[in-house]
Amino acid sequence: MKFSAAILLAVLSFPVSVLPAWAQPATTSQEVESRINTLLKQMTLEEKVGQLNTYSAGTATGPGTGLLPFPEMVSAGHVGALFNLVGAREANAMQRIAVERSRLHIPMLLGLDVIHGYRTTFPVPLGMSATWDTQLIESAARIAARESRADGINWVYSPMLDIARDGRWGRIVESEGEDPYLAAAIARAYVRGYQGTGSKPLLAGCAKHFVGYGAAEGGRDYNTTEISEHTLREVYLRPFRAAEQEGILSFMAAFNSLNGVPASANPFTLGQVLRKEWGFKGVVVGDWESVKEVMEHGIAIDGKTAALKAFKAGVTSDMQDNLYELHLAELVRSGSISEAEIDNAVRDVLRVKFALGLFDTPYADEAHPVFSGPIPEDARAVARQAAGSSFVLLKNEGKNGHAVLPLDTKTVHTIALIGPFADDRDAMLGSWSGQGKATDVVTLRSALEEYARGHNISVNYVQACTMTIVPNCDPQKAVEAARSADVVVLALGEHASERTGEAASVASLDLPGGQKDLVREVENAGKPSVMLLFNGHPLTFGELEPKLSAILEAWYPGVEAGPALVRTLFGDANPSGRLTVSFPRTVGQEPLYYNHLSTGRPADGVDLSKPPYDSDSKYVSRYLDETNAPAYPFGYGLSYTTFEYSAPQLSTASTSAALLNGGKPDAAVRITATVRNSGNVAGAEVVQLYIRRRGTSVTMPVRELKGFKKITLAPGESKNVTFTLGRDELAFWNIDMKEIVEPEEVSVWVSHDSASGTPVKFEIKQ
Ligand code: NOJ
Repeated sequence: MKFSAAILLAVLSFPVSVLPAWAQPATTSQEVESRINTLLKQMTLEEKVGQLNTYSAGTATGPGTGLLPFPEMVSAGHVGALFNLVGAREANAMQRIAVERSRLHIPMLLGLDVIHGYRTTFPVPLGMSATWDTQLIESAARIAARESRADGINWVYSPMLDIARDGRWGRIVESEGEDPYLAAAIARAYVRGYQGTGSKPLLAGCAKHFVGYGAAEGGRDYNTTEISEHTLREVYLRPFRAAEQEGILSFMAAFNSLNGVPASANPFTLGQVLRKEWGFKGVVVGDWESVKEVMEHGIAIDGKTAALKAFKAGVTSDMQDNLYELHLAELVRSGSISEAEIDNAVRDVLRVKFALGLFDTPYADEAHPVFSGPIPEDARAVARQAAGSSFVLLKNEGKNGHAVLPLDTKTVHTIALIGPFADDRDAMLGSWSGQGKATDVVTLRSALEEYARGHNISVNYVQACTMTIVPNCDPQKAVEAARSADVVVLALGEHASERTGEAASVASLDLPGGQKDLVREVENAGKPSVMLLFNGHPLTFGELEPKLSAILEAWYPGVEAGPALVRTLFGDANPSGRLTVSFPRTVGQEPLYYNHLSTGRPADGVDLSKPPYDSDSKYVSRYLDETNAPAYPFGYGLSYTTFEYSAPQLSTASTSAALLNGGKPDAAVRITATVRNSGNVAGAEVVQLYIRRRGTSVTMPVRELKGFKKITLAPGESKNVTFTLGRDELAFWNIDMKEIVEPEEVSVWVSHDSASGTPVKFEIKQ
């Protein structure tokens, strides 16, 4: 949503006065609390309620909307936070009204959906997660934070921490994937990157969507969710808990209902878990009109009850639906809400504003706006590295059994570059690219043509398909180009902003439109084909897979898409991304995730490729017409080299639950494996540690990630990789809903992905 010129004019022409003397920086938390109390004493009930409103600056206000125009609303102290207001000058102009014209001079939170970068657009979050590189994610988030803050933003609606186990869900592209351990590590990285690690955060992050949104039934966006308390705590809450422990300043309540209670009015998740158990003291903002939507969910018939239920449950700030503004003061006067409860909510908002130093430094530095020049080279370098590290090589074996990638400049003289994603700048920015500019993007076509010029290669480009939700393809020219080429590079996928992201769930995971036929036709040319995929859902390839010599999952790589892809295609960079979502064989397998629970009739050891002729292969948990395994499992990804793993060594064959629960570090078990680069080129490997526990009071997953390390190895080089399994890794939510370590048998894999390796075992005694 854009900030309109009319509003800007109104803001810039609004009269301002000078800053109050009392707005001095507070240094200790006691000082902050006492300053908050002093402020609260001066606030009217209406001013307090004003702090509990978040509005989008792009929305219409004024006559007919029930709201004043923004400048008046801000100066009257009715706006605690604004979002979608972009640009240092515009942000400062509005902030000046809050700080210099409102009676108590309280600055506003200025928010924005900074999803995968601000101006410097990095790969989409699912791609970032595929790097398994938390340092890199932190660096990218830091760049996004600096750029946002320079442009007046002090609150970003990220990271998105919804565990996503169903490939049909459009917002899987915004997620960190299907695993809670990895998502928790990534959550911490985002918080450190956005907020910094010092005492004064750069800006406030927002962990969203709290909670369970990713478990939408049937993968359909906004749909209802049913999650047992065990699974909620064991899976869906873990990344949020990590963000909270890392000090995130805000949460966003989700749209979905959870076990029959809307997440935006859910006393269990917001009140019991977040506030009481975790002790969170920051802002909980509702999602866009999610307070109003509790009426649609059916737990309120009028706006007043919706506001009451959301507020009582723990939503501090009402995003966009104006129900707090309309009803909270009246609810206090009628005795349904106490003023002390309002004060506590206002405290949460003011605490974040103090933490950000907004009372001290409310304004962006207009002398250094982000948009004044090109993206600096150091930011581009991080974007390039992130893009390169996010690519997952799914297949690299031509019909002759040989790897086609990396392309060899000695034998490749003509390339047919085919497909709608080869030269589309917008698509490379991915879904929801915030302030990313298409003109900043270097496409595959332009980077490849530049490379080709220096290496005596000719590139024959054919777009072949429309860039639409359902692409129309005309294969004729593509086939001609393929016939006269040494290799075909197909750039295919899904429309970034229309077919992935919010409200973009799908019931088919096949390559959309005419692209499948295009692959079939191009194959008839008989040339090796490399498919580069630009997508947000995990797609199914079916009978296309054997037609392709190589498949490189590229997600939506961001501004440095082209250079990163060309480096990878020609072997100057070696793919090191690993899947963070399982890729199904067919959509009917969804929801599909590696860390599922065991059943009483597992299909282990049964040949599922054959029909179930006999009772041994029939009465197991299986499909009649498809295997249970994914096409590509969680953790999977090839490299241009190969890695060999030694059998893991355990520091002990047994340990004690009592000692682990007592936090004794000596009770932890260390696991070491040697990983060797057995190929001819340097490469990075994500060494993954999985466990399975048995003998526990509740059924646990057949495998669970509990450690990972990304290491780089020169050809022939070996490294010992050591993991520690202590209380943090081994405690789980047991049958009494206590998070403890139980006596159990633990199998441990140190492996390349979630489907390979041979386990070793240790025991946890009483
Ligand atoms: C709706 C989305 O669900 C959420 O992710 C986003 O932060 C808000 N709108 C604000 O734009």
